[in-house]
Amino acid sequence: MADTDYSLLIAQAEAITSGETDLIANLSNLSALVYDTLEDVNWVGFYLTRAPETLVLGPFQGKVACLRIDFGKGVCGTAAAQRTTQRVHDVHDFPGHIACDSASNSEVVVPLIVNDEVVGVFDLDSPTVGRFSEQDADGLSKLGRFIETLNWSGFGNVQ
Ligand code: SME
Repeated sequence: MADTDYSLLIAQAEAITSGETDLIANLSNLSALVYDTLEDVNWVGFYLTRAPETLVLGPFQGKVACLRIDFGKGVCGTAAAQRTTQRVHDVHDFPGHIACDSASNSEVVVPLIVNDEVVGVFDLDSPTVGRFSEQDADGLSKLGRFIETLNWSGFGNVQ
């Protein structure tokens, strides 16, 4: 499997979002871009903080997924509560992992923080145990930093 060129991916992310201010439109295309670009992934998308301490399913590519995840629950809720990127080698070893697609075996979740508030998370699943390297987690976290610069007004308490 070829390494992902995250500099190129982030440049493409900037290009496809630069002319649009609608967050849902941008997150939709970003999920498609990342799903198409990364090899060996079966779910890529967003959960958004639409209720206090609760992540609600947002734009994604992949199979039907869980609708709501409380902060602190599963890999997504852990990323939101701890405000750190989670890289999980084997989801079956992660206490409280929430199985949405039984094909998923490894996962990365990047928290998205705007104005010191967790506005959502960026979640990627793979059917392969150990699919995501440290380099992937680092590149995806950098992509997350870019996603935080989009127009999040109206989400959480972002004005
Ligand atoms: N596995 C995640 C739930 C979301 S799905 O993977 C799309 C978790 O444990 O938080």
